[in-house]
Amino acid sequence: MQTRLDLEALRDHFPTLRTTIYLNSGSYGLLHDSVRRAFEDYLTARVEKGADWDDWAMRAEAVRSRMAALLNVTADEMAITASASAGMNSLASALDFSGERNRIVVSDYEFPTSGQVWHAQAKRGAQIVHVAERGDGVIAAEDVVSAIDERTRLVVLSHVCYRHGAKFSAADIKTIAAAAHANGALLFLDCYQSVGSESIDLADLDVDFAGGGMLKYLIGTAGIGFLYVRRSLIEGLVPANSGWFAQAEANMLNIFANEPHPTARRFQAGTPPVPSCYAATAGLDIILDVSTDVIGDHVRSVTRYALDELAAAGFSVATPDRDSHRGPMIAVRARDEVALVNALIDERVVTSSRSGNVRAGFHFYNNRRDVDGFVAALDRHRQWLA
Ligand SMILES: Cc1ncc(COP(=O)(O)O)c(C=O)c1O
Repeated sequence: MQTRLDLEALRDHFPTLRTTIYLNSGSYGLLHDSVRRAFEDYLTARVEKGADWDDWAMRAEAVRSRMAALLNVTADEMAITASASAGMNSLASALDFSGERNRIVVSDYEFPTSGQVWHAQAKRGAQIVHVAERGDGVIAAEDVVSAIDERTRLVVLSHVCYRHGAKFSAADIKTIAAAAHANGALLFLDCYQSVGSESIDLADLDVDFAGGGMLKYLIGTAGIGFLYVRRSLIEGLVPANSGWFAQAEANMLNIFANEPHPTARRFQAGTPPVPSCYAATAGLDIILDVSTDVIGDHVRSVTRYALDELAAAGFSVATPDRDSHRGPMIAVRARDEVALVNALIDERVVTSSRSGNVRAGFHFYNNRRDVDGFVAALDRHRQWLA
């Protein structure tokens, strides 16, 4: 069992933390020494071997099995893609929107990709129904449930909203999954803003599909993503997006037919993102080693402390207060969020801006001193705050 002291010791492996208060993991997770070494290992292998296709294929399998373990599903239900967007597009291409059941219910928590991909299905007959946030910025599960009916093909939820950090609780997701299934619809969970920051059990949540990537709280890299597809649905879904790494036998090199792999590998396309697989594996090993239970507890406690300190300083926070409804990110309302983020960067406090908010993402390598430094820096730039 990892202790708080162990988490403190782990900070030494993130060189950026020696000089910087880093609160931008919702944008890009920090580089750990072993992830850097994984990139170097890739380059060494390139020099030594030139090409090594068998090893490269094995690298993608290493990511697949770790992602499956992390989310409590099987490796055959996991596709390793080039981005979260690629996985969503592949899934969308396998869904039929031509008949009566052509509606996609999309929450307003979505990241642009997760709105755009589904709107792009309009030319294939899809009708998009949005579910808005209430006045407090939170989407009520009952509002999503009300939007689902016998015309709904798919419900799309972002687990944690990238703009302000509000989260659908596990109970919300289960309620929505039950309503979707009772109406013959399927549920997609975009967990990019949460995966790696807390335990997520896709089997228990009863979602049909999930997607994300390894760039943020999985502390891997860009250029790689994942798509989970429930085992019982795979055979009936044939993506129109395809490629040789989506085939039952990539080595058959058959140009006369499309023969999708019997597992979720059918949602892949071309050559695996090899350098990204090296880095993603190293990042996943750290997350699995620390354990998402430990990370979740730590992140909840640090974000709780941040909320209390921000309230005490009189700052306006856009993130819900309840533990069950907030992810690893705290959003502070600003009058000019871009100017404020730039002023903080000048003081080596790294955050990011979205939709009128300064976003601070907290991970296992952040501590209360980071919160204190963040709040003190905000205090010096009160003129930019709402
Ligand atoms: C919630 C969410 N979904 C999807 C994406 C898009 O991921 P990708 O660039 O890998 O397609 C992001 C990227 O920030 C995100 O935060």
